Amino acid sequence: MLIIRCHNGRRILPRRVRGMCGIAACVLRNGEVGPVLYDCLKRLEYRGYDSVGEASIIDGKIVVKKDKGKIDQVEEKLGISDLAGVVGIGHTRWATHGAPSQENAHPHTDCKNTVAVVHNGIIENFMRLRQELELKGHQFNSRTDTEVVAHLVEECLGSGKSFAEAVRLTSKKLTGAYALALISSLEPDKVVCVRNESPLVVGRGTDSNYCASDIPAFLSRTNQVIFLEDDEMAVLTADKVRLLHISDGEELTREPVTIDWNAETALKTGYRHFMLKEIHEQPMTVRNALRTHPIYLDLMASAMNRAKRIFLVACGTSYHACLAATYAFSNLAKFAVTPAVASEFIDTYGALVDSDSVVLAVSQSGETADTLSAVRGAKERGATVLGISNVMGSTLTRISDVYIGQNSGPEMGVAATKTFTAQLSVLVKIVVALARKREVLRSADLEALQNGFNRLPGWISIVLSTQEERVKRIVEKYSDRSSFCFLGRGIGVATALEGRLKLLELSYLPAIAYAAGESKHGFISVVEEGYPVIFIAPRDETYSKMIGNTMEMKARGAQIISIVDDQDGEVSGLSDETVTVPPGIPSMLTPIVFVVPLQLFAYYMAVGKGYDPDFPRNLAKSVTVH
Ligand code: F6R
Repeated sequence: MLIIRCHNGRRILPRRVRGMCGIAACVLRNGEVGPVLYDCLKRLEYRGYDSVGEASIIDGKIVVKKDKGKIDQVEEKLGISDLAGVVGIGHTRWATHGAPSQENAHPHTDCKNTVAVVHNGIIENFMRLRQELELKGHQFNSRTDTEVVAHLVEECLGSGKSFAEAVRLTSKKLTGAYALALISSLEPDKVVCVRNESPLVVGRGTDSNYCASDIPAFLSRTNQVIFLEDDEMAVLTADKVRLLHISDGEELTREPVTIDWNAETALKTGYRHFMLKEIHEQPMTVRNALRTHPIYLDLMASAMNRAKRIFLVACGTSYHACLAATYAFSNLAKFAVTPAVASEFIDTYGALVDSDSVVLAVSQSGETADTLSAVRGAKERGATVLGISNVMGSTLTRISDVYIGQNSGPEMGVAATKTFTAQLSVLVKIVVALARKREVLRSADLEALQNGFNRLPGWISIVLSTQEERVKRIVEKYSDRSSFCFLGRGIGVATALEGRLKLLELSYLPAIAYAAGESKHGFISVVEEGYPVIFIAPRDETYSKMIGNTMEMKARGAQIISIVDDQDGEVSGLSDETVTVPPGIPSMLTPIVFVVPLQLFAYYMAVGKGYDPDFPRNLAKSVTVH
């Protein structure tokens, strides 16, 4: 997840390797797995990756071919498509921590080379498990969290358990998110796969069975798909798929469903656009972001606690995450931090940046030129640089003193969606760590926030499942408007700005966003009969003033669209349209939920106008020019 470096660049904590990786596995009655896995992995390429690997069983022995690099480079070097054998597992690794390397590439094996495993997800308790295994004499070859799985299965096999039972018992020891696929030379006719929180699907073929993290991997071979749920595992042989609950080992039955996607839809797992897919991934990506290990949060908080000045530096959506975090810094950690648009940072604050300063730079890509030059300017002035990025190995992660990976997986849509909510999740966690260090967080607030962190993925799921149709109807009704205004207060200003950015970059509408209180100092002159104003109105300490602002706009003929919680009475009573989110979200977490309807609003507005939301004109995913 993160590398910690001293100022001299030396690492001071072990690397932790995690991923939003791609898994593919197969069991064939006839033929060889090499070409099949190669093809499956090529079809997972779109997910983004840095390393590739495959393992199969040949003459009773596990053979592994793996390395960093693109599939075709590794193919040229190692001939992964030549792998013989009828059972095999394959992997594309998206490193979210540490430099890609051959050792860290999957599959990983145990000490006796009887088990090989590929993994997508995050095993949270791997450090403790690894220490226990090392005390028992297990030798580790990588820095990954995944390798503990191979050694744990080895332990269970050693005590006489069957392969499937060994995997089941091992899974029960893991905490975190994982989709795993394993083979064992002791039972060379099967693949065992398990799922907890990371996606995994089984494909039922004729004389062959498959599993993968995504349907496109095997869709050209079978369209009969069994979706595994959490706490479920599958034992695949060439002619059978056995499903079990991990918790009690009880068998379950589930018929496959027929998937009739074409190749392009399959890449988007059935969604029309990557952006919509990514909006819907947010319950998972926020959960992953919140998994940042406390050790790393604490290291960032320590650096901040020593600082006299803290600047948050970023561009675009990442800047909005920083802006929202600014409210959290002052409200929770009682520390005034300065958010700055990266392109303005040195001109505005360069004279204040010195060795007592911390600059926290946030960049999804880690390559945005303006952010990097702000960081370089800060480093020249002696500041400590902290980074949050979605791309491990990116320039930002290389030049930061400490960095955290936000664990969102590749974002294909040009407009940032899931990476915004993940960035803010990480940022609020850092703020909480700082607040605790400064001993300024009341235990009731801490409890409310912890509860909020646990419930965030569920809250987002509720919004997605209950409000999407409502947002679509609102878009249809207002699709002829030439401008929209977004108003918020407090941390809701950042939500308003982000809603505005999504709408204007995708629909090319000259949208406006304001702090609601400021709107009467200018914007109000624009309002006329029927002008649509979108209020972000959580029932927090800003709420009573928001009622007044809503009335002001309504009195001038504005049509009010409000995002409120579903127990709200007053703002919704003044609104022409309401979109609701669940009640009880702690104020500092509201943008993470309230932004979701705004993302949907922008998405459907663009689609309704016939624009491609994945590729808005004139915009690039990573802006590497000044
Ligand atoms: C908006 C968007 C951009 C990026 C900005 C910064 O939807 O995607 O505004 O947020 O270009 O990019 P990163 O986070 O990669 O530095």
